[in-house]
Amino acid sequence: MKYKAVIFDLDGVVVSTDNYHYQGWKRLADDENIYFDRKINERQRGVSRMESLDVLLEKSDKIYTTEQKIEMATRKNEYYKEFLKDLTPDEILPGVLKFTEFLKSKGIKIAIGSSSKNTPSILKNIGLDSYFDAVADGNSIKNSKPDPEVFLLAAKLINEAPEDCLVVEDADAGVEAAIAGGMDVIGVGTASSNKNATYSFADLNCVDFNILK
Ligand code: BG6
Ligand code: MG
Repeated sequence: MKYKAVIFDLDGVVVSTDNYHYQGWKRLADDENIYFDRKINERQRGVSRMESLDVLLEKSDKIYTTEQKIEMATRKNEYYKEFLKDLTPDEILPGVLKFTEFLKSKGIKIAIGSSSKNTPSILKNIGLDSYFDAVADGNSIKNSKPDPEVFLLAAKLINEAPEDCLVVEDADAGVEAAIAGGMDVIGVGTASSNKNATYSFADLNCVDFNILK
């Protein structure tokens, strides 16, 4: 097979939490009277919580202290965690389990590479906490996507060279991160129109397994 491992982004690839991120940021923006919409939210895909806050604050004229920013990011995370409480395996995205089961049957390792610090609780709620060979997430990295750190860490945890790994991403920042890390990448969802993606599919249900040969 062409790849020894596939590294999955979490939000918007494995599970449909991306809309909950939007709702959390929207509520914070409304609290603070800051304009926010889905187009702005697109730029928050794949980037860390604090960097996502900076994207939201571009529409504000105010100057904020570090303490105020930490409070706002924490408040958004509390709103977001309200949604996560009700997260179930039903919210695993189409085609994920079909693809991962195929990979497992071929002896291809699977890992998570996510910027999210909520990764452990999300995986637990969707029943996949011991499903992946390794999990690299926002709790174990310094630089979030488009920096390749999280994907390089995932490759290291499963003992595979970056060039033997294929990434699955829904964010432009994630596609850039994979390429910067020397990995091929499948773009799904928003990233399916990213010209730099090695392969593009609407979602994981549409993946042509021949790309793995
Ligand atoms: C990424 C999301 O997976 O995680 C981003 O695409 C989010 O939108 C980032 O900002 C950080 O998430 P969390 O759960 O640590 O706030
Ligand atoms: Mg994502």
